[in-house]
This record gives sequence, C-alpha cells and structure tokens, in this order.
Amino acid sequence: MALLELSGISLSFSGLRALSDVSFSVAESQIVGLIGPNGAGKSTLINCVSHLYRPERGSILFNGQELVGRSTPEVAAMGIRRTFQNLELFREVSVRENITLGLVYRYRAGILSDFLNLPSARAMRREANAETAAIIERLGLNDVADVRVCELSYGLQKSVEMARALAGRPKLMLLDEPAAGMNPEESRRVADTVRRLRDENGISILLVEHDMRVVMSACDRIVVLDHGEKIAEGTPAEIRNSPAVIKAYLGEDDDHA
Ligand SMILES: Nc1ncnc2c1ncn2[C@@H]1O[C@H](COP(=O)(O)OP(=O)(O)O)[C@@H](O)[C@H]1O
Ligand SMILES: [Mg+2]
Repeated sequence: MALLELSGISLSFSGLRALSDVSFSVAESQIVGLIGPNGAGKSTLINCVSHLYRPERGSILFNGQELVGRSTPEVAAMGIRRTFQNLELFREVSVRENITLGLVYRYRAGILSDFLNLPSARAMRREANAETAAIIERLGLNDVADVRVCELSYGLQKSVEMARALAGRPKLMLLDEPAAGMNPEESRRVADTVRRLRDENGISILLVEHDMRVVMSACDRIVVLDHGEKIAEGTPAEIRNSPAVIKAYLGEDDDHA
C-alpha cells in the first residue's frame, strides 16, 4: 500500500486552474521528486497535502486515511512535516531553539508539568535537549547551533528548516525547494541528507526542487507537473529522456532545464 496516495486533485484560484486532476503516490521509504516549470503547481500541491489548502476535488490518503477535511494539528499528529519555499523560521532565535520548537507537538503534554517544574518535566527537557543536539549533529549544524537564524546564509537557513521538520519524527516529509539559493557543495549535502533520512530513518519524502542534480541524484521516482497537470512520471532516467518534459522546460531559463 502507498503511504501517500493522491487521486484526482484539482484546485483553482479565482478561475485559474492551479492543479488539474493530479494523481500519484509515494510509497513507504520512497523519495519522489515533484518538478516542473515555475507556476506549474508544485507548491500548491504540497500545500494541499500539508493542509494549508483544501483541494476542490480529489482525495489524499495517508496510510489509508483521508486527509482532506482534517485540521492541521491532526495532519501533523499523523506524521507529516514540511518545509517552505520561502523560509518560515523564527529569525531572532538560535538554530538550536528553532529545532527544539520542532519537537513541541510531540512534547506538548509536558507543558503544564513544565510550568509546575515537576521532575518529569526536567527529564523531558533533558530528553528534548539531547534529541535537538543529535539532529544538529546529523545535519552538520554544530558550528552554528547557537547563532541566531537571521545571521545565517540562506542555504544554512534552509538546512535549519529541514532540521526542524525532522524534529517532528515524521513518516513523510514535504520539502519545497530545500536547495534553493545554495552553492553546488551545499546542494550536494542536501541530496545526501535527503537520502540518509530515507535510508536511516525510513522517512518517505516528496521533494520539490529546481536543481536537477539534486533531483536526479536523490529521487527514486519523479512526477512532472506543467500548468497544473501531470505530464510525466517515471524513474530519473525516464524523465531525463522524456520529450514531454524537455518541451515543458524549453520556455525556462537554462539552469532550470
Ligand atoms: N494563494 C494563491 N492565490 C492565488 N493564486 C495562487 C495561490 N497560490 C498559487 N497560486 C497560483 O497557482 C499557480 C501555481 O503556483 P505554485 O503552486 O506556487 O507553482 P510552483 O510552486 O510550481 O512554482 C500559479 O499560477 C500561482 O500564481
Ligand atoms: Mg513553488
């Protein structure tokens, strides 16, 4: 059974079709790339799965359960975490604090005992600190752990957002252009990290990315959107040679093609 199964997703914005009857699935521990020219509907699709938008038609099954119609906390509790194309971090606090905030959904039950300073809360805080430290190590953020996010390069901020999503111990991660604004070395690290999250934690990943080196090296399968429609789906090798995909990208600038 697919972990995530999208069927017939459609959504318009004031008459403009952003998504038109899109169907595909993501299997357990699979990395699926979602690519397409600017405005193709990639972020809109991520927003439908993470529940920012509600599709007009279609169904989104996660572990066999319908997501459409649920609340955002419910979707988070089911094990779905995301990053944003335009960063959404707490800019004035440190990398470490941003990651710890990613743990909040899981530790929420402890807030009252934390307030009362009970021993259970102190143990929980130690556990949260240890988990945060492990994620910092994992994503190579040791050198900047106590630096405020606003002082970091855009590329590093993207990594912090991934780290925060990871703190939610997701089954599925939705990554919206995690390598945007990165140099080739940083992009390579992102591709490595994505594969490691799958290999070592079994996380399924839906990856929106413009950098084709990242997409081709990280993904098991690729889905291509153009003008809100799925125009191709296949392995990286199949997509690389697909005439429909090459045609869709011809209007884009060279570094996106
Ligand atoms: N909240 C919104 N309101 C109006 N139009 C939107 C909104 N979000 C996306 N769109 C439109 O939907 C289309 C797809 O956008 P988007 O999903 O952001 O594309 P991509 O991420 O593939 O570049 C675009 O034409 C965009 O202008
Ligand atoms: Mg986008």
